[in-house]
Amino acid sequence: MDSNLKIPNHVAIIVDGNGRWAKERGLSRLKGHDAGFENLKEISKYIFTKGVKILSLYVFSTENFKRDKKEVDHLMDLFVLMFKRDKDFFVKNNIKVVFSGRDEPLPKKVIDARDKLALLTKNNTGGIVNICLNYGGRAEIVDATKKIISNGISIDDIDEELFSKYMYQDLPDVDLMIRTSGELRLSNFLLWENSYAEFYFPNVYFPDFKAKDFDEAIFIYNKRDRRFGGIKK
Ligand code: IPE
Ligand code: IPE
Ligand code: MG
Repeated sequence: MDSNLKIPNHVAIIVDGNGRWAKERGLSRLKGHDAGFENLKEISKYIFTKGVKILSLYVFSTENFKRDKKEVDHLMDLFVLMFKRDKDFFVKNNIKVVFSGRDEPLPKKVIDARDKLALLTKNNTGGIVNICLNYGGRAEIVDATKKIISNGISIDDIDEELFSKYMYQDLPDVDLMIRTSGELRLSNFLLWENSYAEFYFPNVYFPDFKAKDFDEAIFIYNKRDRRFGGIKK
């Protein structure tokens, strides 16, 4: 890859298309999630080697609890497995893992494995993975507002900067938002943080999203003209 390319500081990915990937192969949706989660580790590793500092991953929305119990249970088991099995990967690569989302109604085993991994990696400095689990963008804004009010913050002190600090994680805005599978929507992902992100929608299901697809995303990102409301000089 051309070393003059601009690398986005914060990349966010909506991990989508696991179910359709499986269906195309005559497999159950659950197998699609297994394949998606296998790929998650590989592609995350690659993205950090490219110089990205923060990677937000949308792995389960607040709305995903509407799915069949069997699928939800399988995903919860996969989260526990990933948080336990991949802990050495995060430690070895000096990656700090943080989480965004609500506790309720996550099973206790997921909350425990999640908190253990966050604690284990909290002093790592090589990059941040922000796992958006039981996450909703509107829920996040509502929860931030509640915290601001319960902390007794005066109206005069409320501005956009303060609001950002009250989000689940105090992270810089997203630079590049990628959604796999061909769907062209946000589905309630990082509504506040994606305000000026560049969007890219590759036409592959997440289990097939590989290094070359990420390279393509960076290439496209470099062609974008980010103006933030200003005028191009
Ligand atoms: C995304 O894949 C994974 C999660 C929501 C956890 P989907 O399960 O949404 O796959 P499709 O969109 O049905 O293909
Ligand atoms: C968004 O994908 C949530 C995650 C990928 C975790 P969905 O597959 O749930 O979104 P919709 O229902 O197609 O909008
Ligand atoms: Mg989907």
